Amino acid sequence: MDLGHAGARVVVTGGGANIGRGIAHCFAGEGARVLVVDVDGDGAGAVATELRELGAADADALAIDLTADGAGTAVTERAVDAWGGIDVLVNNAGWSEPGWFAEQTDRALWEKTIGVNLFAAIDCTQAALGPMREAGRGSVVFLSSDSAFGAIRQGIYGSTKAGLISLARTIAREHGRHGIRSNVVAPGLVLPPEDATVGASSVWARGADAMFTREQVDSVLRTQALRRPTTPTDVGNAVLWVSSEIAARQVTGQVVAVGGGSSMP
Ligand SMILES: NC(=O)c1ccc[n+]([C@@H]2O[C@H](COP(=O)([O-])OP(=O)(O)OC[C@H]3O[C@@H](n4cnc5c(N)ncnc54)[C@H](O)[C@@H]3O)[C@@H](O)[C@H]2O)c1
Repeated sequence: MDLGHAGARVVVTGGGANIGRGIAHCFAGEGARVLVVDVDGDGAGAVATELRELGAADADALAIDLTADGAGTAVTERAVDAWGGIDVLVNNAGWSEPGWFAEQTDRALWEKTIGVNLFAAIDCTQAALGPMREAGRGSVVFLSSDSAFGAIRQGIYGSTKAGLISLARTIAREHGRHGIRSNVVAPGLVLPPEDATVGASSVWARGADAMFTREQVDSVLRTQALRRPTTPTDVGNAVLWVSSEIAARQVTGQVVAVGGGSSMP
């Protein structure tokens, strides 16, 4: 089925590593134009090069800290200057540090987690809605998480991911009349592919074991319905579908969980 993404103008935040890279790869395979936005400029640049090899109609990289004032406007301006608009915004940039809620008392940790996960998504989306409304169409996708529904050692992080679901649904209700759809993709556990490097600002930079021990990963796999690992491509394919004006034309305000049945929202 043609998803209608050929030539689409797509922005993927946090596209320089793991899931964002997988999402960007999927859009490149559809012949989209993709702007990879990341605080890790080297990672974003490397992914943009991969996208051209994978068939992207165009690919660009923007190195920017999305928690900085005015970042959302800068991202939108980059896409509008280059391509005249934005068809798909994927709010994927994120940060997390697992830990027991009662022990995560460091305010700087709260601020970083909320800043990257919520403020950046709010800012990028508010900026992108302008050109989307002018065009009378557009799709916004938010990367949430199983932890949005409550998970041990994910209190601060999970609360930001739950906030994204509320935000996505409000945008769906407020902007549907302008032809804009807004949905959530909630991945289960997605380890970076072994053949891919991750930059210093990826949560995986300290090694997968620093995030989740082998036992924790095995336990996730044992408790999910499909009992096999979720890949960045699995998540990317769900984003392709939900952002397609053809395949998901009447889908808005929804949460699509992509974790082998680890959660069923
Ligand atoms: N990997 C998982 O198991 C998993 C599960 C559920 C949800 N998620 C969510 O999916 C998204 C991607 O996860 P991932 O595993 O690829 O993470 P990751 O850390 O590997 O990649 C996130 C990217 O965001 C970028 N980034 C971080 N802070 C930024 C900032 N201030 N400005 C711009 N870019 C910034 C990083 O440089 C990195 O390239 C995140 O939102 C995460 O919360 C991940």
